[in-house]
Amino acid sequence: MAQELTGWRRRRVELQWYRAVYKQQARGLWVLRGKKHGRHAVIFGKPIIDATDLEVGDDFKVWAGPRPTLISGWGRMRFGDRCFVNVGSTIISVEEIIVGDDVAFANDVYVMDSDSHGVEGRPHKQAPIHIGDGCWIGARAIILPGVTLGKRVLVAAGAVVTRDVPDDCLVAGNPARIVRELSYPVGCRRAWHDEHCPCPKIEAVEDTA
Ligand SMILES: CC(C)(COP(=O)(O)OP(=O)(O)OC[C@H]1O[C@@H](n2cnc3c(N)ncnc32)[C@H](O)[C@@H]1OP(=O)(O)O)[C@@H](O)C(=O)NCCC(=O)NCCS
Repeated sequence: MAQELTGWRRRRVELQWYRAVYKQQARGLWVLRGKKHGRHAVIFGKPIIDATDLEVGDDFKVWAGPRPTLISGWGRMRFGDRCFVNVGSTIISVEEIIVGDDVAFANDVYVMDSDSHGVEGRPHKQAPIHIGDGCWIGARAIILPGVTLGKRVLVAAGAVVTRDVPDDCLVAGNPARIVRELSYPVGCRRAWHDEHCPCPKIEAVEDTA
């Protein structure tokens, strides 16, 4: 059985934790320098964040690791409060990508508002992407140009989203289809529920599990 840390051992672990957090906050301030950003940005690893028209809200969190994370492009890009971009994700705006509050991008998600190349000699498709509050974009999902996701949409891992999705739906597959509607406890803001969710009803969810 694990022994509880006490005394100086506990203090040392606490100091290590604070050191890691402050380092990530310092990196957040450094990486987002010159951009409009809210409080408490946290950046772990070395993402490339060179989007030229970028604004992020409070508690913006980005992780990079073995695979780099890229937030780039010359289009308008906005993230609300408490957004999280996980390792290996690529988000590129050449026109407009607007992300609401409490949105999570899992590992290796790809979001770009332009196809870059046209088909059969036609001009390439380029259209704004809007992602509603509380959405959870699962690992390796792709969001194509012109898509609007409603609030608290859950995009399953590996889905390719080609069309708009209404509020509170789970979509999966390629092309992504609505699997079912989602129902959340009153006050729940995010599809990606965990112990950090500000949802006031988390105990109720756990009780019903
Ligand atoms: C969507 C997900 C969260 C499961 O949600 P859930 O509510 O428990 O859904 P279920 O497992 O009940 O699946 C519902 C249906 O969707 C299908 N489905 C679920 N995930 C799918 C996926 N990634 N691709 C295709 N179909 C999927 C299931 O097969 C099931 O279909 P059926 O009703 O025909 O049997 C999970 O499948 C997933 O994609 N997780 C990704 C998590 C992630 O990216 N984490 C990274 C850390 S941030």
